[in-house]
Amino acid sequence: MIDLFEPVAAACRIHVPASDRRGIAIVGAGAIVDVAHLPAYRSAGLDVVGIVDLDITRARAVADRHGVEHVYRDLDEMLCDDRIEVVDVAVPAQAQPDVARRVLHAGRHMLGQKPFAPSVAAARDLVRLAQQRDLVLAVNQQLRYDEGMMAAHAMVALGWLGELTHVSIDVDIWTEWTSWPWMIETPELEIWNHSIHYHDVIRWLLGEPDRVYAVGGRTKGQAPRGETRSVTSYHFESGATALVTAHHENSFGDPHATFRLDGDQGSVRGTLGLLYDYPSGRPDTVEVMSRVVPTDGWVPYPVTHRWIPDAFVGPMAALLDAVSGGSVPLTSALDNLATLGLVEAIYSSMHSGEVTHLLPDAGLEQRLFT
Ligand SMILES: NC(=O)c1ccc[n+]([C@@H]2O[C@H](COP(=O)([O-])OP(=O)(O)OC[C@H]3O[C@@H](n4cnc5c(N)ncnc54)[C@H](O)[C@@H]3O)[C@@H](O)[C@H]2O)c1
Repeated sequence: MIDLFEPVAAACRIHVPASDRRGIAIVGAGAIVDVAHLPAYRSAGLDVVGIVDLDITRARAVADRHGVEHVYRDLDEMLCDDRIEVVDVAVPAQAQPDVARRVLHAGRHMLGQKPFAPSVAAARDLVRLAQQRDLVLAVNQQLRYDEGMMAAHAMVALGWLGELTHVSIDVDIWTEWTSWPWMIETPELEIWNHSIHYHDVIRWLLGEPDRVYAVGGRTKGQAPRGETRSVTSYHFESGATALVTAHHENSFGDPHATFRLDGDQGSVRGTLGLLYDYPSGRPDTVEVMSRVVPTDGWVPYPVTHRWIPDAFVGPMAALLDAVSGGSVPLTSALDNLATLGLVEAIYSSMHSGEVTHLLPDAGLEQRLFT
C-alpha cells in the first residue's frame, strides 16, 4: 500500500529548482508574511533580499525576526534595487492593485496575495499589463499546494475515484476578525477573505460550474459588518455538484474543517489541520477508499506538511519556474480571474436570492477577456 502512494507523494512534492535563486522582495510585513511567507521561503532556501511596509517599525521587527537583510523606506526605493527580480505582495486586496501596477511598470515579476484584487475588473487590468510587459503574474492561492488537498487532487487525477461527482468542504471555526481591522467595515467579508480558497479548489477539482446558489449570514452582536457565514451550492454541466459551508462563530472550542470528494468508484475524506488551531494547527488528514485501487476499507495517506507555512512555497516556486521558462504557474493570475469571477457570482446569488448562471467553459482566455 505504501508503494501505491508513491505517485501521490510525487504529485505533492514542491520542486524549487536550484537555479532559481532570484532576488525576492516582499511588500507587506503583516501577520501572514510573518507566520507563513518568510518561514516557508527560508525553508525552501529562497533569496529574500528585502521588505517594505507602510509601517516601517513593523517591517523592521519582521525583518529582524527572519534575518531579512534590507528594510526599504518605501516602494520606490525597493523598485530601484537591481537585485530584485520578483516582488511578493501581501497587502489587503484594496491596496494591492496600486502596488501591483507600480511593480509591473517597474518590470518585476509578481506574486499577489489572495484575494488578488477587489474585483474581476481590477484584476483583469493587471493581467493585461503583465501580458503587455511579458512578466509572470501569479496569485498566492496556496490551498492548492496544501499537502492534504494536493494528495486528494492527485488521487482524482490517478482515476482512483472514477468520475468525480461531488465535493464538499465544511468548516466550523472561530475566526477573530478584529485581528484585521481593515476587514471589519467591509460589506462582503467571509468569501472574499476566507472561503475564496475553497471555491478556488472546487474549480481546480471540478472545473467551471454552470450555476451557483449562495446564502450568507451574520450573528447578532458580531463585530464585522459583512457576513461571517456562507453556504454555497454548485452545479456543473457534467451533473457534478459541490457544497461549501463556512461558519466562523463557533465559540465552543470544538472546531471542525473537513473535506470529502465522492466519485462513482471511490471517495476521499479528510481534515484541514490548520483550522483546528490557527495559525499553526496540525497536518491534514486524508483517507481514501477506492474500488479502482482497490483498497480494503479506508486507507490513510501519511501527510507530513502543513498548510501554514509549507503550502506557501508552492505559488512562489511555480512563479520562479515560469520566470525561468518553465510552465505557466498553477495559480496564474489569468486562472485566478475565474476564481474572482466565481466569487462575484456567488455574492450576486447571495444578494439577489437567485441562482447565478455562469458562462459556459469557452476557454479561460476567451471567457475572461471578451
Ligand atoms: N492563507 C492565506 O492565503 C492568507 C492568510 C491570511 C491573510 N492573507 C492575505 O494576506 C494579505 C495580508 O494579510 P495579513 O494577515 O498579513 O494582514 P495584516 O493586517 O496583518 O498586515 C497587512 C500589512 O500590509 C501593510 N500595507 C497595507 N497597505 C500597504 C501598502 N500600500 N504598501 C505597503 N504595505 C502596506 C500594512 O501596513 C500591514 O502591515 C491580505 O490580503 C489577506 O487576505 C492570506
